[in-house]
Amino acid sequence: MRNYRQEFSDFSPLVYLDCACQGAFPKVTAERVHHAVELKSQPQRLKAPEYFGLPDRVRAGIARLVGADESEIAITTSATQGIGVVAAGLNLGPGDEVVVRVANFPSNLFTWLHLERKGVTVKVVRSSSEEASVEEVAAQMTPRTRVLALDWVSYSTGYRIDLAAFGSLIHERGGIFVVDGTQGVGANELNLHALPVDVMACAAYKWILGPYGTGFAYIAKNLLNKLDLPVINWHSVVGAHEFDSLPKENFRLIPEARVFDSGETGNFINLHGLESSLEYVAGVTPAAVHSYCRRLLRRAEEGLRALGFVVSAAALPGHESTILCFRAANSAATAALHQKLTANHVVVSLRHGMIRVSPYLYNDEADIDRLLEIARPA
Ligand SMILES: Cc1ncc(COP(=O)(O)O)c(C=O)c1O
Repeated sequence: MRNYRQEFSDFSPLVYLDCACQGAFPKVTAERVHHAVELKSQPQRLKAPEYFGLPDRVRAGIARLVGADESEIAITTSATQGIGVVAAGLNLGPGDEVVVRVANFPSNLFTWLHLERKGVTVKVVRSSSEEASVEEVAAQMTPRTRVLALDWVSYSTGYRIDLAAFGSLIHERGGIFVVDGTQGVGANELNLHALPVDVMACAAYKWILGPYGTGFAYIAKNLLNKLDLPVINWHSVVGAHEFDSLPKENFRLIPEARVFDSGETGNFINLHGLESSLEYVAGVTPAAVHSYCRRLLRRAEEGLRALGFVVSAAALPGHESTILCFRAANSAATAALHQKLTANHVVVSLRHGMIRVSPYLYNDEADIDRLLEIARPA
């Protein structure tokens, strides 16, 4: 069997179970970023393909990863940017309504709440349980609902929503479905063309193992011409790569999602790293990442339940992801356990009263057993 652990740097004596916080570069990506640093140290080596070919290759890699066309992918710096260009581009105003969950990551919450200044009504679903129920969300919808914005995989519980069910709900009402895919893309199979999703924004520094400051937005073709573009990126006009013959007036926009690319799109240090990690993830495959991590998390779940801990809704069949959260009898005990794990070199996150465990291919059963050993009450 392939030894994934060797493909990453050595974490020992640490046990790193926090990919949902920050993904680690595989060694191949670290080498590639080093190459990019050399280019910047000898800038005469930087040529046009770095600025134009590299972003196009990255765009193609993202499109393959999520089951979309290259023309539907914008290269961004964050999930926030992707959600932001859509929220701003829809030109919503008084009378328009948006439905979000309070449990969304702030990128997919504040961006929408910020539209209240324009008279948009933002309905915030505050679920009583960790799960997002279709009924609760449906109850907030009216004929004026223009957008439903949800996270695919919850950063605080690991619960993965049914994209088809929520997408159909908003499509039946004529609105658009905006999804933050940050905690899911790269670690779960995805075919956006087969799903009722109009926008998927994603940060690439977690499960895609990309550099911090990289991300993308998928914008479905039929939505593109409905979005206003308040800020022009000169890289995205027709003929941009022919810099000397670029018309100074009467420029034309390329009718693709790339018009929403972040400025200085060919950020070669970041994009070399992102390209390499996209290749790595495509090579191991998101399906294999998912099943490998699930195997480890099933072991964790069993052990944690046996020790008396409560595990998150991410353990529910059909809603599993590569994240599992758990808690002790009360929040003080959970926080104390988090401290104990940290002191014993087990790196996990504490999120809203639960301990979040998010393994990757560099982990194995011994890492989970170490977590369980330290979690065992004295
Ligand atoms: C669900 C989710 N979305 C987005 C982000 C990061 O957002 P941004 O790229 O806007 O900083 C995180 C980071 O933890 C996250 O968990």
